[in-house]
This record gives sequence, structure tokens and C-alpha cells, in this order.
Amino acid sequence: MPMTMPLERNPSLDELTEQAACQFRSVFGHDPTHFAAAPGRVNLIGEHIDYNDGFVLPLAIERYVVIAGRPICDSSEPLIRLFSDPLRSEISFPLRDLVPSSTRDWAKYVAGVMAGYQDRQANLPSIEACIVSSIPLGGGLSSSAALEVAAATLLEQITQTCLEPVEKALLCQRAEHLFAGVPCGIMDQFSSVFGQSNELLLLDCRSQTIEPVPFLFPDWTILVSNSNVKHALTGGEYAQRRDQCDQALHLLNKPSWRDVSMEEIAELSGKHDNVLLRRARHVVGEIVRTQQAAQALGKSDGATLGALMNASHDSLRDDFQVSCDELDVLVDIARTIGPAGGVIGSRMTGGGFGGCTVSLIETSRAEEIATRIRFGYQDRTGIEPTLFVTRPAPGAMPIYRP
Ligand code: GLA
Repeated sequence: MPMTMPLERNPSLDELTEQAACQFRSVFGHDPTHFAAAPGRVNLIGEHIDYNDGFVLPLAIERYVVIAGRPICDSSEPLIRLFSDPLRSEISFPLRDLVPSSTRDWAKYVAGVMAGYQDRQANLPSIEACIVSSIPLGGGLSSSAALEVAAATLLEQITQTCLEPVEKALLCQRAEHLFAGVPCGIMDQFSSVFGQSNELLLLDCRSQTIEPVPFLFPDWTILVSNSNVKHALTGGEYAQRRDQCDQALHLLNKPSWRDVSMEEIAELSGKHDNVLLRRARHVVGEIVRTQQAAQALGKSDGATLGALMNASHDSLRDDFQVSCDELDVLVDIARTIGPAGGVIGSRMTGGGFGGCTVSLIETSRAEEIATRIRFGYQDRTGIEPTLFVTRPAPGAMPIYRP
């Protein structure tokens, strides 16, 4: 029996584009005219603080949504026909007066982007589009933000108008709020728009500005381990955490989390709801950890960076309470391997309640580390994880084919 490889390969953009073109031809019976790609992201540190005025440190990953599209110029009412290859599903909806109930499921992300685009632009023509993706769905790697940003990038080409990158990211975030009903922060859409090869993005979510943090070390690699569990209630839990953070800030009587210190939180201890104080501790601690992590990365100080990543996970597990058993098992195995075995640091990444962990590891030991995590996790949970490595990847782009 062939041995399963511990690490999945990242399909190239050429392969994904070819796949989108073939699928488009087989669904619509002719060739697409435009292509757009947008990556998923993984966040090295700075979790659940993008909606709290904090700093995050994500990178775009070598996993993409690619959309092949074609405008249809005829005189009928404009509509979009969308085919999703990963979901093997086709959905059509008229483009006039788009509202969240105009469509359903995964097509809402695209509809939200089109509605945002229509608010700014002349009318859109009818469009046929086919979506392919190498980003695991529901894995906390921003497959939905990548779909939104890829759709916006396709529309830029079809209408021959470019949005300012910040405007594009915010338009996509609004699509997620209004059409998918998820009150997300700005991290995912900004990462997908602004990703750069060999750079992490230190994003100040209050000023919405980015400081690039070079990641030029051939010796270090980012390992993504997908627990392959997605717990129910994620949407509700996310909105609840946001709400609790707002309540905690109100309790602290401060305009922004950037003005809150750990001492001020400690002063409220015993006088107020302990849950809110725990949320507050996570937010304030994580804002500091993220800035320190960016500095440590700049100095290639693996020991400090690893300790900060580990502390971030503990805080998300104990104070913010968005981890789950499976993520804790993945992190535990990675930590047991530890620096001696080539793992610099490891933590859950993304919204939580399932999805992925991110580990910073030594490149030369990637296969060995992935094998140990894979089998260790399978032994302890009975679930097969999927693992891949990535370097920081470029953000959204049009793709031109000869
Ligand atoms: C989800 C949201 C992001 C961010 C993360 C947690 O991915 O879409 O805006 O809040 O959770 O850091």
C-alpha cells in the first residue's frame, strides 16, 4: 500500500487557472475571458483583536480561490450564473436590486461584493463565472474572504475599473457583514488584498495601516495543521465574543482597547463579571504580544517568538475560550516536539472552535514534524488531520493567459 505523504502539496496558480478554465468550458460551453485569484490567510499571532482596534500579524498563504469569468452582453435582465467546483453546485441570481435574500449559501459572498460594487459603479453586465479553490472550506483559513476578494478582482477587470486596495478590502468586509451575516474584523480581507511574497503584515486595525515584516529566513517555514473539525455555533459564538468585548470596554470606561492596561483590568477583579474580565485580559495581552512578536520576527529571535505564540494559544483557550479539544491536541503535540525537535511555536489560528493551528517550524524538519503531528493527532482523536507548509504569498491579482 502506498505510504500517505504527511504534507499536502499546494497546487500552483497555473494549475488552478487551468482547472477553472476547463470547468468553465464544461459548464458554460465556451471559454472564459477573465481570471482572478485571491489567497487565503493564516494569522501568526493577534487573534480576535482585529475588531478590537488591535494589531494582527497574518500572511497570505499559497492557497487560492481562482475565478474564471465572462461578461455576457445581451439585452435581457442582467444576472450572474455561478458554478462552484469545490461544492459542485450552480446558483444563478438577478443582479438588479441585490439584497441578502437575493440568493443563498456560498453565493451570498459574491452577491454582497456585487452589491457593494454596484453602489459605486455603473450597472454590471450579465456574468458567467466558475470558482475553483485550494483553500479548505470551513478550516479558518479565510476561504470566504478569498472568494469575496477574488470576485471583486474579477469585477475590476470586467468593468475595467480599479478600486483603491483599502476600499476593495472594506467593500469585501461589508459584503460579509451584510450578506453573510458574519460581523468579522478587517484581517481576512486585508490579508487577501495586501499579501506579499516573503512578508508578514503587521496590520494596525485601528489606523488600518500595514507595516511589512520581512520573512526571509529559508530556515523557517509556516506549518498549517487542519484539525478537520468545525464545531457548530461558530457564527453565534463569534458575535457573542464581539459583544462581550464591547461590554468589557464599556465597563472599563475607555474609548479604545489601546488605552487599557492590565492593571486597570486587575482593579475591576472581584467587582464585575469574571467572564468579561477574562475577555479583556486576552485582548490587552494579545495586543502587546503581537507587537512584541513582530519585533522578535524582525530580529529572528525564535525563542521569544515561540513563547509569545504559545502564550497566545493559552490565552485563547483559557481566557477567550475559543479553542476546542482537537486544536489543543494539535498544539500539545507540536509543543511536545518543541524547539529541540524543530517546532519554534504553535497556536490555534483564525476564529477558533475547530479549524487550524499555525506552527513556526524549522524547514529542514518539516516532513518529520508533520508525520509526528499527523499520527499523534490521529491516535488521540481518531480524526485524520491535513497538513501543509506555506511561505508568505502574494495577494489578489488578475491572471492573464496567453
Ligand atoms: C475570523 C474573522 C477575523 C478575525 C478572526 C479572529 O477569521 O473573520 O476578522 O476576527 O476570526 O482573529
